Amino acid sequence: MFKFFADPKTIAHYVSDLLIEQLQKKNNTVLGLATGSTMVPVYDVLSTQILAQQIDVSNATTFNLDEYLGLSSEHPQSYHYFMQAHLFKQLSFAKHRTFLPDGLCENPELQCQQYSKAIEKAGKLDVQLLGIGNNGHIGFNEPGTSFTSRTHVVALSEQTRLDNSRFFDTIDEVPTHAITLGLQDIMEARQIILIATGTKKAKIIAELYESSVDEQLPASVVKSHPNAMILVDREAGEFLQGRVEE
Ligand code: F6R
Repeated sequence: MFKFFADPKTIAHYVSDLLIEQLQKKNNTVLGLATGSTMVPVYDVLSTQILAQQIDVSNATTFNLDEYLGLSSEHPQSYHYFMQAHLFKQLSFAKHRTFLPDGLCENPELQCQQYSKAIEKAGKLDVQLLGIGNNGHIGFNEPGTSFTSRTHVVALSEQTRLDNSRFFDTIDEVPTHAITLGLQDIMEARQIILIATGTKKAKIIAELYESSVDEQLPASVVKSHPNAMILVDREAGEFLQGRVEE
């Protein structure tokens, strides 16, 4: 389940190859996508490879994991903006098949229900990409979130707001709430690929490695998935050296 790589770029190539293989096998693949620094090299290599190999993505569907509440899609820190900048503007995904929660929606609870239903209707996620927060969150599912959760509104923990404040001018500008796919929605994906890179993730990766499946460490749920992999680079895997397959 844990796989060890030299650096983020090597992970990006590995993941890009897997996703391209999946798209070639099933051109109407349903992808679960994440944002964040971990995904930047992945989307960079993936978009370059898709263009170079002329892979058709026009029949694929994508669902992003999460979005801040209160930010418009034009806000540079919104996840809509991130996805445009790092993946969608490079590739010809069909706009009506790329889904992200709307940060300005009037009825977030209703939107959450509709989001989970839309995934169900699309035939469920074939592959879910995940990063991991320093507190073990996946999506914005903070420690203590039920493993049976569906898409829901979440109050962001102080740790998560602090971690994400590096992208905003001040911490006060970091939204207090977000919409996230639930842990059950994530676990229903046919395959899960969780990626962790950089020294800042070394501590939580060591905890994840040792941990049983426990709601206090949301990412640990992935360990009970029948088809999941956890990809770490040398830095994030610092405390696992010699214990996982290279
Ligand atoms: C982003 C998301 C988050 C991030 C996590 C790691 O869509 O769902 O769970 O994956 O916070 O973020 P980075 O990659 O910036 O360290």
